[in-house]
Amino acid sequence: MRGDAMITFDYNYFMEEHIGSEHGIAEADLASAREKAAAALERMEREKGEGMLGFLDLPSENRLIDEILSYRDRVRADFDTVALVGIGGSALGPQALRNALCHLFLNELDDERREGCKIYFYDNVDPYEILSMADVVDVKKTLFLIISKSGGTTETNANFAILLDYLKKAVGESYRKHIVAITDPQKGILRKIADDEGFTAFPVPSNVGGRFSVLSAVGLVMAAFAGIDIAGLLQGGRHIIDTYYGKDMHANAPLLNAVFHYLFDTLRNKRINVLMPYTRKLFLFADWYRQIWAESLGKETDIAGKKTVVGLTPVSALGTIDQHSQLQLYLEGPNDKVITFLKLRDFECDVEIPGLYPENPELMYLSQKSLRKLNEFEESATELVLKEKSRPNASITLSRLDAENIGALILFIEMQTAYAGYLYNINPYDQPAVEQGKRFTFGLMDRAGYEEYKEVFARNYSKLDKYIL
Ligand code: PA5
Repeated sequence: MRGDAMITFDYNYFMEEHIGSEHGIAEADLASAREKAAAALERMEREKGEGMLGFLDLPSENRLIDEILSYRDRVRADFDTVALVGIGGSALGPQALRNALCHLFLNELDDERREGCKIYFYDNVDPYEILSMADVVDVKKTLFLIISKSGGTTETNANFAILLDYLKKAVGESYRKHIVAITDPQKGILRKIADDEGFTAFPVPSNVGGRFSVLSAVGLVMAAFAGIDIAGLLQGGRHIIDTYYGKDMHANAPLLNAVFHYLFDTLRNKRINVLMPYTRKLFLFADWYRQIWAESLGKETDIAGKKTVVGLTPVSALGTIDQHSQLQLYLEGPNDKVITFLKLRDFECDVEIPGLYPENPELMYLSQKSLRKLNEFEESATELVLKEKSRPNASITLSRLDAENIGALILFIEMQTAYAGYLYNINPYDQPAVEQGKRFTFGLMDRAGYEEYKEVFARNYSKLDKYIL
């Protein structure tokens, strides 16, 4: 038992001793994956040496911390709101950070009780959403973080255009001080605009992919304005690298968890992966995990270009809510899922449940009990019932909810995802199919150079009336 560790990985209920040989993994199965795991370690070492894995360097970027904090301290008094404009990897990680490390209702707190700025996210193409936000966001007091590594993302640029228009109407020529561009240091249209306009800018290193960029300026600028300890985030990330990098799978929890998921897919036909935190504070990590796991691992070809078609389907769930929603399926539906609980050892808060008509025995048992204990017992009970039904489940447990633990969790999942990609012999850092969808959108929106996509769309996007009721 590793009671004092920052993060622990408990895989008891993945093993055949607990859930039986039909669904569990045996020591011999793990041994059979040893060579592949060693090859994954070698590939990570090689790609790191070639400068491809910028996400492993981010936790050591202490200079960036100083730059962000000094910028924040210079301008903080001018703003009470930060609006992040981005999508995918440029928004999901920051959302998870904000949710985990700030008051859950940060934007509703009054100024005295709120330490950092209010934080809003524009990460969708949805007129309802942007118009609703216009009713509550005062652009005069808002700093806009325009985040796009490529600079060319349609959704982000559409929202940027709308918000810039609002801003110019509200503040006139001083709009420039309301905008920070977070983008590639050299390439892309956002970089060019930032340089031409003289916007404050922070880099997304070119060797860091969107979904691996949370600990770059992508997450850190917003976090600094939200009052999050950004140095602590990086320290937690470094802790995971120091603890696991280059280690054999039996001493390397992210690699071991990747191996388990690979074995459950290839030996036990289970390729639906559930991440289930037991606090809303960690729920948006399940959303970020969905992206990093899905976009990194769903691939049609391996690194040699050979057709392979692999992918693990991530699902997010939230305890205790999903005990009354998805759990029935997890327990009695097809045994095709691998469930990971995301737990907190120390909640650092609790509420005593007062007596509710305690003269009734049906309610008396709750009286004067701890809400945290109830949460903990429900989680353990769920683990047990899954185990009794031979449903594989494991836990990643953070010692507490602070910046260090969250930085550690980010690196844990990033390394696990990279290792999983290596086990499947694919490239976990690209997203070729998504790029194709983007090209069709450009064509349909009449972007010059993409005319052929509009034509292909017109030829192929046809529907038969007989199949529409
Ligand atoms: O993980 C990724 O690379 C993607 O999800 C991108 O983050 C997303 O497509 C947005 O791209 P960009 O940051 O270039 O606007």
